[in-house]
Amino acid sequence: MTVTAVVGAQWGDEGKGRVVDYLAQKADMVIRFQGGDNAGHTVVNSYGLFKLHLIPSGIFNPNAQAIIGAGTVVNPGALLDEMKLVTDAGVSVDNLWIDRRAHMVLPYHRELDGLQETARGGRSIGTTKRGIGPCYADKAARHGLQIGDLQHPKWLRERLEGVVGRINFALTQYDAPPLDLEALYNQLMEWSEALSPRIIDTLPRIQDAQRWDKEILLEGQLGVMRDLDWGIYPYVTSSNPTASAACIGAGLPATALTRVIGVVKAYSTAVGAGPFPVELLDAEGEKLRDVGQEFGATTGRPRRCGWFDGVAIKYAAWLNGFTGIAVTKLDVLDDFDEIKICVCYKYGDQLVNQIPETAVLEQVEPVYETWEGWKQTTRGARKWEHLPKQARLFLHRISELAGAPIQFISVGPERDELVVR
Ligand code: GDP
Ligand code: IMO
Ligand code: MG
Repeated sequence: MTVTAVVGAQWGDEGKGRVVDYLAQKADMVIRFQGGDNAGHTVVNSYGLFKLHLIPSGIFNPNAQAIIGAGTVVNPGALLDEMKLVTDAGVSVDNLWIDRRAHMVLPYHRELDGLQETARGGRSIGTTKRGIGPCYADKAARHGLQIGDLQHPKWLRERLEGVVGRINFALTQYDAPPLDLEALYNQLMEWSEALSPRIIDTLPRIQDAQRWDKEILLEGQLGVMRDLDWGIYPYVTSSNPTASAACIGAGLPATALTRVIGVVKAYSTAVGAGPFPVELLDAEGEKLRDVGQEFGATTGRPRRCGWFDGVAIKYAAWLNGFTGIAVTKLDVLDDFDEIKICVCYKYGDQLVNQIPETAVLEQVEPVYETWEGWKQTTRGARKWEHLPKQARLFLHRISELAGAPIQFISVGPERDELVVR
């Protein structure tokens, strides 16, 4: 059995969706292991262009089982909308399964996410307002509802009645109207009917895959800089996008991972608040956003853009143990005279080589090395030798900083716009 985790090595939106879509062509199973519909994973292939939020990016291979894993949080309404979008495009969802243990993001989680953000005022996190934080908080506090509860109406009703007081207390703190329990229960029953056939215990399937020596892909959401434990707290998400969490979220033993592919954009972007030392607030930043079309796949927000951050990548490499990396969006740099890489930060007169605490990270300045641009298109490159010499030198440097070999380089959004090494 090979188990490959594909994880974001920066602040999210590195191009995980397109890498998983490519690798899934040869996979037997693709499992999303954390996060919810805060994700926006873009896939461009012969079926069209998709911004997937919950459905694993392996859905396009009818021979692969696509699993929404136990570690995810699922908004049933959002999932049903997405299933319709995908089937309308001619893609079957017969191979889609949801682990019964995944927690449900309910309408009140979304509402609370928005209310909490407003209450944070000038120190808001800039969440996607998809209810992710409140849902994982309920899960940890043991007030959550698992998606498998939909298959047990009596149990579900009792659980709901058990949490309603607490939810209403939270809502009324923000002067929001209390829950309409009957309406919510009826909505849940509708979702139950629509989703029940897809809600299963996925573990026997995963164990079968192991028994028959199948290829399993684990698809991460977001990136390590927004990891709940290791990211720029509190400007983080409420789950762990790092590879170590992949086994827990998918239902595999810790020793199962055979490969970890870090997806690394050739520059940096972030959506949401928090320190981002390499951010360019000038014409170069605008150019990266313009050429890279850097707008959030979930919220449409303009992404903050900057040069490649070598300090962040070393941190990501340690935490994830990359066996290889996929460098994406190289083509976006095709028309720059000079390209920069941040190699350390400056804090006062000290040089900083590690990711410091958030209070310090907010105050550091990036220290750059400058690389010569290649000033020609790379879009047609399909082999390493096709890439301009300056681009290869730049990629070598990224590989050196990540401490891992480059296995893929993407030079356009479409599935085959890829150099495989
Ligand atoms: P994810 O969340 O990590 O899956 O990444 P997103 O889908 O949010 O963001 C990546 C964006 O870059 C999407 O719009 C992709 O279509 C696009 N993209 C991916 N790879 C490339 C590439 O090599 N070149 C260009 N120009 N665009 C790419
Ligand atoms: P993919 O999987 C980029 C960011 C939000 C905010 C922080 C917390 O497409 O890479 P949350 O809604 O999770 O509570 O927000 O995390 N964020 C993302 N940024 N890509 C994503 O997903 C993101 N999911 C959440 O902007 O800063
Ligand atoms: Mg995204």
